[in-house]
Amino acid sequence: MDNKFHRIKAIELQGRVVSADEAASWIKDGMTLGLSGFTRAGDAKAIPYALVRRAKTEQFKVNVFTGASLGSDVDKLMAEAGIVHKRLPFQADPAMRRKINSGDMLFVDHHLSQTAEWIRAGVIEPIDFAVIEALEITEDGMIIPTTSVGNSSVFVKHAKNVIIEINLSQPELFKGVHDIYEPGKQGQRSPIPLTHVSDRIGTIGIPVDLEKVRAIVFTEQEDSPSTILQSDAETEVMAGHLLNFLRAEVASGRLTNQLAPLQSGIGSVANAVLHGLIDSEFEDMEVYSEVLQDAVFDLIDAGKVKFASASSITLSKEKMEQVFGNFEEYRDKIILRPQEITNHPGLIRRLGLISINTALEFDIYGNVNSTHVSGTKMMNGIGGSGDFARNARLSIFVTKSIAKGGIISSVVPFATHVDHTEHDVDIVVTEQGYADLRGLAPRERVPLIIEHCVHPMYRDQMRSYYEEALLRGGQTPHVLEKAFSWHANLANNGTMLLSE
Ligand code: COA
Repeated sequence: MDNKFHRIKAIELQGRVVSADEAASWIKDGMTLGLSGFTRAGDAKAIPYALVRRAKTEQFKVNVFTGASLGSDVDKLMAEAGIVHKRLPFQADPAMRRKINSGDMLFVDHHLSQTAEWIRAGVIEPIDFAVIEALEITEDGMIIPTTSVGNSSVFVKHAKNVIIEINLSQPELFKGVHDIYEPGKQGQRSPIPLTHVSDRIGTIGIPVDLEKVRAIVFTEQEDSPSTILQSDAETEVMAGHLLNFLRAEVASGRLTNQLAPLQSGIGSVANAVLHGLIDSEFEDMEVYSEVLQDAVFDLIDAGKVKFASASSITLSKEKMEQVFGNFEEYRDKIILRPQEITNHPGLIRRLGLISINTALEFDIYGNVNSTHVSGTKMMNGIGGSGDFARNARLSIFVTKSIAKGGIISSVVPFATHVDHTEHDVDIVVTEQGYADLRGLAPRERVPLIIEHCVHPMYRDQMRSYYEEALLRGGQTPHVLEKAFSWHANLANNGTMLLSE
């Protein structure tokens, strides 16, 4: 028997190996799939690719639920093939984004911690097929995931059928890194017994009812590397502002040099900000995040981070080679968990996280838009930012003060879509500086945001807006008919700069 079969240690499953095309042929029009995959890591690849091939000769649509965004162009290919009816809970692909924004595809933009609850409670379409990338299937019937856990465990538990993609390219050393915990039904559950970032509270794999395993396919396709851009001058300046804020917290006695467990969102800015910690005085740090990007491994290498917990590992090509090639150096310092545990509101509050996420825009009172360009066009989705923002000890949002060469101000009079209300946002940071909004009334926030965060080219314009707003009065003064005038001007004249 071929050596790769040693990855199927539950002997009774060895006869269920089929080709991806055959397994995909069982998926019918109108079905709902639960695919493994979280921020381009550990995604099911072979079955989605087979579905895309099938779409060349047959018309069908399926609902696609995942952990978060998929890599390996899976979202792109499925969107272009027109086979996705509804997508949930997050995506980050330009082709899929176009389909969503043109109305050709439905997208449910959902807090990443909550999808598992919807599935458990039967709120959304039941999962017909869970398709899960795995390292191996153990003798006692557990699926060992690869580079992400995401929603895989809840998909497997509740799906009618399970297809397992064993990926031979993933390092077997990954076994033992995962910690799968099932909280149980709402109203009947006990407190989640996690009080430290490094606590192990579950099993090393996803228990599966072997009867439900319809097929096993082998693949060798690696995860696609992350697309993070390197730090630039502005993101480095932003990191500097954030470090100064953290230093002030230490000086006030609210934090120590160990800080508090860190969560950092997706994207280049958040990655750069974490990078800024490497040359800082902070030490013995811990990470309790959704995704471990390059910066976290650099911080581990620098001896700055002692433990990191997340739901996935998403790295650049270079970093992937280094980390996966030397995984024994990292395996005792990381844990991968289901996303309802990494993003669990109660745990975020209990651990007292410092949470750093990126905004598309925020307004003069601190309302943050993370998702909708000019209030209408979906970018990626809220992801876990809402799970963290509401519950973190420090909820920090970063963004460059201008976008697209200055035609867009990322600080606006009124956020055109509010993902995180002023009540959930503690600190906003741009390359201009930071504004600590804690304990401030709306009228106290505005001057701070204007002077510390708005780009100089938009400051006068913002001051005029606010002066006029003050004449109207209110707890959060606005000139309603002008609140979106910057966005309207962008749409009509190609810039948010208003001509007098
Ligand atoms: N209006 C329109 N476009 C804007 C904008 C604004 N106010 N601010 C930024 N952009 C554009 C940028 O120009 C850039 O465009 P490009 O891709 O054509 O170059 C793009 O948005 C990304 O911006 P960038 O500054 O490179 O930031 P990023 O890569 O860090 O991504 C978000 C920023 C907000 C899109 C991203 O962090 C996100 O999707 N967040 C929501 C999910 C989340 O926070 N998850 C966190 C928990 S893990």
